Amino acid sequence: MKRILIHLDTDPQPSSFDAISAIDGGVDQLISYGNVTPVDVVSLVQGAIFTRSPNSLQNTAIFIGGSDIEAGQALLDRIRETFFGPMRVSVMMDASGCNTTASAAVVCAGRHLDLSNSSTAVFGGTGPVGRRVARILKECGCRVKVVSRSIERARTVCAAIDNASQLLEPAAMSSSDDLPEVLEGVDAVIAAGAAGVKFCTLEELQKSAGVKVAIDLNAVPPLGIEGIESGDKAREEGEIVCYGALGVGGLKMKLHHHVIAQLFEANDQIFDAESTFAAAGDMR
Ligand SMILES: NC(=O)c1ccc[n+]([C@@H]2O[C@H](COP(=O)([O-])OP(=O)(O)OC[C@H]3O[C@@H](n4cnc5c(N)ncnc54)[C@H](OP(=O)(O)O)[C@@H]3O)[C@@H](O)[C@H]2O)c1
Repeated sequence: MKRILIHLDTDPQPSSFDAISAIDGGVDQLISYGNVTPVDVVSLVQGAIFTRSPNSLQNTAIFIGGSDIEAGQALLDRIRETFFGPMRVSVMMDASGCNTTASAAVVCAGRHLDLSNSSTAVFGGTGPVGRRVARILKECGCRVKVVSRSIERARTVCAAIDNASQLLEPAAMSSSDDLPEVLEGVDAVIAAGAAGVKFCTLEELQKSAGVKVAIDLNAVPPLGIEGIESGDKAREEGEIVCYGALGVGGLKMKLHHHVIAQLFEANDQIFDAESTFAAAGDMR
C-alpha cells in the first residue's frame, strides 16, 4: 500500500524543503495544504483516518510544517484532540525544523559530554528552537541555563518547560559583559539566538575554563558565536569542540528522513521534541 504523507503547513505556500525531505524520506504520495489553521484540522484529519481500514492506517501519516512554530504546535494540539481510539495516524511536528534542529544539536553535544553530568547554557533559550533544546537537555538529565536578555522571559520559559525541575535555571545576559557569570560551571554552550544575532566570540568562551563544546545554530551572518564557522563539525579550537549551523544541519537532515520513515512503522506515534530526539537513537 502506498505511503501517503499529509503535509499541513501554516504558511500560505507549503514548504518545498519539507516536500523534498518527505520524498527523500520514502513517502510515495505527498498531499500538501497551505494556510492551515486549527479550524481546518478536523476535516483534514477525518479524511486521513476514515479512508483506510484501521489495520492500514500506518500507511498514512501527517507532517506539520511552517515558519511559525507556535502555530504548528496549535495544529498538533488540535490533531491530537481529533484522534480517538484506534482512529489515528502518526504525526511529525517540525515547524521551521525546530525539533530536528534542537535534537541534532543535543546529539552533537552528547558526543563529547556526559549530558547527565553536565551543565549547558542555551543562548536565545526563550525562542522556539532554544526552548526545545532546553527541554531535550533537561530530559537527558543535563543542568540547563536558559539565557535571555530578560530574566523574566527566561523564568517564564523555565516554568513552562517544567515548573518543578531543579535542572532548569534562568539567566540574564544583556551583553558579553555578563558572560563570565553566565558561564560559571557551564560545560557547553548552544547558541539558538535569532538569525544574524551575535552573542559573543569563541575567544570569550575560551576564557571560561569549563566550556568544552560550543554549538551555534545561527547560519545568518553575523553568526551567534564569532569564530565558529557555519560548516564546523567537531572542529577543535583549543579546548573547545565547535559546531556551526551547517555542521549540525547534516545530522538534522538525516534525522528528518529517519523520522519520516519511522512514521510508517505504526499509526500512533507523535514526533515532537523529546520523541524526535529519542528517534536519533544510534546517531548519537
Ligand atoms: N540549522 C538549522 O537547520 C536551523 C533550523 C531552524 C532554525 N535555525 C536557527 O536557530 C536559531 C533559533 O531559531 P528561533 O526560531 O528559535 O529564533 P528566534 O525566535 O528568532 O530567536 C531566539 C531568541 O533570540 C533572542 N534574540 C532575538 N533578538 C536578539 C538580539 N538582538 N540580541 C540578543 N538576543 C536576541 C530572543 O531571546 P530574548 O528576547 O529572550 O533575549 C529570542 O527568543 C536561528 O538562528 C535560526 O536561524 C537553524
